[in-house]
Amino acid sequence: MLGPVVVSRAAIESMLDRLAAEIESDLGGRSPVFIGVLKGCVFFFTDLVKRIRRSVDMDFIQVSSYGASTTSSGSVVLVKDITVDVRDRDVYLVEDIVDTGTTLTDVIRLIEARHPRTIQVVALLSKPSRRQVEVEIAFLGTEIEDRFVIGYGLDFDERYRNLPEIHELVPE
Ligand code: IMP
Repeated sequence: MLGPVVVSRAAIESMLDRLAAEIESDLGGRSPVFIGVLKGCVFFFTDLVKRIRRSVDMDFIQVSSYGASTTSSGSVVLVKDITVDVRDRDVYLVEDIVDTGTTLTDVIRLIEARHPRTIQVVALLSKPSRRQVEVEIAFLGTEIEDRFVIGYGLDFDERYRNLPEIHELVPE
């Protein structure tokens, strides 16, 4: 059931402002492609790109990772591929949360096969204590402890995504 708030709306807003500013100064004269990892990225992605005061290309990729479980299955299946041509482009890969790192590693591999010039990860949350595969997060909202969180795009068995802030999921 719904537990206490872990990341408040105000904290999310200030992370978005900071991340957008960091990304804007990283952009330079580049023509970036923002790729969101569905579905968890939805609110983070849209709130973030709206803060970037220039034209950016957008696309989405979806892989299946978690089912009704709160632990990673460790195997990733491509559900929806990108359609934009990323060859020689600068890709910002936008992810909700990095847990074991397996999803992101697989997604990066899929995108690298299309020969982008660069690929950098933008993640709202990271649980470093759970990491099994090392992934470089170029732009990070915040680290959290090892607990299962829901809301602001994050789900448990497809529920709770629409909550405006991030809560801990606690056992019934
Ligand atoms: P990883 O492959 O273990 O890094 O898992 C990454 C994916 O698992 C994320 O994109 C989320 O969809 C999901 N996930 C990991 N931790 C949580 C959580 O605390 N709440 C909701 N989803 C999570």
